[in-house]
Amino acid sequence: MRVPCFLALALIIMPVSNIFGQYRENNLPLVPRPRALKLLTGTFTISPVTQLVVNTDVAASDAGYFSEYLKKHYGLALSITRSKHPKKNAVNVFTSEDKKYRGKDAYSLSVENDKVILEGNVNGGTFSGLQTLVQLLPPARLNALNIPCLFISDSARFSWRGMHLDVSRHFFNKEEIKKYLDDMALFKYNTFHWHLTDDQGWRIEIKKYPLLTQTGAWRNGTLIGHYSEANELYDTIRYGGFYTRDDVREIVSYAAKRHITIVPEIEMPGHALAALAAYPWLACSGDSFQVARSWGVFKDVFCPSERTFGFIDDVLKEVSEMFPGQYIHIGGDECPKDRWKSSPLCREIMATNHLKNEEELQGYFTERVEKILHKYGKRLIGWDEILEGGLSPDATVMSWRGNVGGMAAARLGHDVVMTPTNFCYFDYYQSNDENEPLAIGGYLPLEKVYQFDPVPVELNESESKHILGGQANIWTEYIPDFRQVEYMAFPRMCALSEVLWSDPSGKDYDAFITRLTGQMKWFDFLGINYSKALYDIQSFSYPGDRNEGLSVELSTTCPGATVHYTLDGSDPVFNSPVYSSRINFTQSTGITAEVVTGSKPSGRIFKKLFRINNATGREVTLAHPPNEEYCRGGGFSLVNGVTGSLPWKGSEWLGFLKDDLDITIDLGAERPFTKIGVDALKDESNRIYFPVGIMVYTSPDGKNFSEISELDSSSVQKFDRLITVPVGNQRSRWVRIVAKNRGICKNENGQEDPVWLFVDEVSVE
Ligand code: ACM
Repeated sequence: MRVPCFLALALIIMPVSNIFGQYRENNLPLVPRPRALKLLTGTFTISPVTQLVVNTDVAASDAGYFSEYLKKHYGLALSITRSKHPKKNAVNVFTSEDKKYRGKDAYSLSVENDKVILEGNVNGGTFSGLQTLVQLLPPARLNALNIPCLFISDSARFSWRGMHLDVSRHFFNKEEIKKYLDDMALFKYNTFHWHLTDDQGWRIEIKKYPLLTQTGAWRNGTLIGHYSEANELYDTIRYGGFYTRDDVREIVSYAAKRHITIVPEIEMPGHALAALAAYPWLACSGDSFQVARSWGVFKDVFCPSERTFGFIDDVLKEVSEMFPGQYIHIGGDECPKDRWKSSPLCREIMATNHLKNEEELQGYFTERVEKILHKYGKRLIGWDEILEGGLSPDATVMSWRGNVGGMAAARLGHDVVMTPTNFCYFDYYQSNDENEPLAIGGYLPLEKVYQFDPVPVELNESESKHILGGQANIWTEYIPDFRQVEYMAFPRMCALSEVLWSDPSGKDYDAFITRLTGQMKWFDFLGINYSKALYDIQSFSYPGDRNEGLSVELSTTCPGATVHYTLDGSDPVFNSPVYSSRINFTQSTGITAEVVTGSKPSGRIFKKLFRINNATGREVTLAHPPNEEYCRGGGFSLVNGVTGSLPWKGSEWLGFLKDDLDITIDLGAERPFTKIGVDALKDESNRIYFPVGIMVYTSPDGKNFSEISELDSSSVQKFDRLITVPVGNQRSRWVRIVAKNRGICKNENGQEDPVWLFVDEVSVE
């Protein structure tokens, strides 16, 4: 009965002036934020009698998009007429050569009581202005569409505003790709990086090589669960799909209408198993290959033979014909050199071309491919590994391994697109919520995306000019359908759109969130599936009143939000207490809470159990600090009543690299106890190992400790997570617990490397 209760109140207190509440400059739901905006009084109404007036073919095409949009979402069919002069009762869409529109995608939008005048350049100016206009319409199917009178003058910061989509690991059909392009257009993205080939599927029809799609587009099953899990399980479903040449042409033209350029990626020399499965002679050795069913990096790659270059020439010729944009992405990342190292042919090529090592051989490969691209009038772009073997100045570098590669490239005079994993990988988790759908790992919340700046401060002005912009990447190993693509993209794509479009001097996260909250009405209206991680609630524990139990603070990054909570496990309703100050308790307690914005519950429920034992909320000392990468909450997080959540990245596990956990807890007074608990993580694929022993000590004075119990390695390994150490009947004020780190062990290259010990929460009971 929770929702009706909220709704009843909503009906009483909602102002009825317009669907967004009162128009104010700072609550117009415009994302990305325009350069200059002046709100005026009055409104213009779009109705069935409103005309669309255009002055050129480009204006007609842009207005055509707008007209289709109005038809699709509001059932309004407006006529389009040509005129050189603005008309009344019309949305006038005029392209202009005026120098005031020389900026990237520059436009001005004037909404007056009796007309709208949109002027902009032909290169996306008027189209971008129409996207602004679209965001000013009500997100509800009404007969009369009111738009506030205003004046906007706007242009983009960067020329490359990109979204990438991997269609190899999972395939998305033509209609889904079109929806992705619609989603991009709405937020003024202009570059679609279409990752068309990889180990798990070749997705573009090539006339000369039919097996690429007959064989290479299909795999005989797919990994179930996460790649890092010890037991690999596969389904037996034949999975695949591809785009015909006609599909590609249709999508290219659909994108062009939205001023979006498509950059197709044909991966080489690595990530090539699907091509090798179709034509095994593309490899240096091996007679047959299977399209990959699992994820990761595979050793079988293209061989740099003349026959392979002939194949690449043929493929890139057809690809160049299908895509009118200047760039073709050739991948270049993650190419293991094992097969090249054992190939007599590669040794011969290296000797003939005076190449010192296999990295230079990859440089030679890239150079050969670039020559092919130039022959077809195209430019090469690749992941930052292409820098490692030497590169021609015309090549553009996409920096994904942080911004180091991008900076090096810009300093060498290459154009650069910034897409570092830590800000731009939208396949990473966006929330720490344990119910988040399975993702590859990592942690990239909305706020962090908003903080991104594609231009590193280390670059000087002339180097910075090489930064064309930025891009988010959506790799789809763990994204099986298009709804999930949108979930991973939204609303992070909105934050990135503002990074790439808006003037960075006006950056203001709270103001962005206010506008984004307006956008969420759009997501609902347009059927965009989005994450509500914005409404996540965080808790922070402090020692309780009079040093007993806990005092818990709740917070949310959502400005203007109210938090309702319960302590009995039930979902909050409107008359549940409103959180206003810390909640105190001395017994284990579950808190359930939910954000309400305006009068609307977010639908995102926070539920956390705070477990109290003798150690909870006490003062602790750590003999060795945790590694600075995994130290959130410091030592107190081990006694804050909350055990570490999964996925562990971004959550509050303390990570000790090679060091032991060595914690001393002051229980405040002498207290009886019979067992000790240590909650540790086992994730050996990430080099996180269980402790190899646990020692427990007590002390009469906090200085001199004697051992009271020890658990050896084999006893510890019997546990899965929470390790319990029985200690008999004890009384003490000070308890010291040492959990021994395994120290070092061999990595995948056979070298000894330090390993991690991850702990969250110790208990004394
Ligand atoms: C990449 O994420 N391997 C470019």
